[in-house]
Amino acid sequence: MAVRYQDLGLVNTRELFAKAVKGGYAVPAYNFNNLEQLQAIIMAATETRSPVILQVSSGARKYANQTLLRYMAQGAVEYAKELGQGRNIPIVLHLDHGDSYDLCVNCIETGFSSVMIDGSHLPYEENVALTSLVVGYAHRHEVTVEGELGVLAGVEDDVAAETHTYTEPDQVEDFVRKTGCDSLAISIGTSHGAYKFKPGQKAEIRLDILKEIETRIPGFPIVLHGASSVPQDLVMKINQFGGRLDNAIGISEAQLREAAKSAVCKINIDSDGRLAMTAAIRETFAAKPGEFDPRKYLGPARDALKAMYKHKNDAVLGSSGHAFD
Ligand code: G3H
Ligand code: 13P
Ligand code: ZN
Repeated sequence: MAVRYQDLGLVNTRELFAKAVKGGYAVPAYNFNNLEQLQAIIMAATETRSPVILQVSSGARKYANQTLLRYMAQGAVEYAKELGQGRNIPIVLHLDHGDSYDLCVNCIETGFSSVMIDGSHLPYEENVALTSLVVGYAHRHEVTVEGELGVLAGVEDDVAAETHTYTEPDQVEDFVRKTGCDSLAISIGTSHGAYKFKPGQKAEIRLDILKEIETRIPGFPIVLHGASSVPQDLVMKINQFGGRLDNAIGISEAQLREAAKSAVCKINIDSDGRLAMTAAIRETFAAKPGEFDPRKYLGPARDALKAMYKHKNDAVLGSSGHAFD
């Protein structure tokens, strides 16, 4: 028996994105793999009264099991209701970087309200065909679909690209029209992970390409992957307490704020959460070498994560206060 996301209290992205584009903010899309990450995301979203997208990557599915993650998301809806004293923030359960039609169908049948089909590594016409196929199935179930055009540098789906292939503004209108996708991930210089720029390289994304894309598909929801800022205080803390991250550089908050004011309505953040947890855990281990209760180091890590997500919702994405628009 298929599980319908509507029965789990989840929502798709359609209305959220329409409001975000109009309101000049972006909805946060945070990856989760475990309980503490999920708790931090939900606590931050309810306290900032922000809508939120819970993302499940292929790595998360392998690590934590897809069924378990879906039940956790279902639990998160109840948890958010408890924290919000009965008032529900909108929560989306989204498949991050879906790589096949079958996987998207499987996620839709097991309660996901949104899926990404990432055909960005395929030749253009194959990307169009695959994305259209997923859209056809998803829309019959009121599930929204994110497509991608252009290839981010770095490692994506176990495929490494040395340089960015920026999204070609000339292709976006055709892609959106032919596929019927609900949002479009673009490549404008962001990349996955904590090493987004080489030392000495200008650490800037191509907001000029974003502007050009917007003129071709006005008001159409745009997505930014690889949008972690790699906060330097976290990098320093990790290195201070025995870690070794050399030349870790992210996207500036100022550029993300600028993007969020435009048609960028979903910003993906995973690496910053990993850094926040790692810094807090290393600090606890350094201060209390005798500690061996996971709650005593995962608890502070969860607190640090929550504080970081609140900051992003408030000051970077601008999604705070928009849960009940
Ligand atoms: O898209 C990249 C995300 O950060 C997920 O990465 O597959 O290692 O969980 P992951
Ligand atoms: P970061 O690695 O920059 O956090 O990006 C995450 C992402 O795009 C998930 O799809
Ligand atoms: Zn991504």
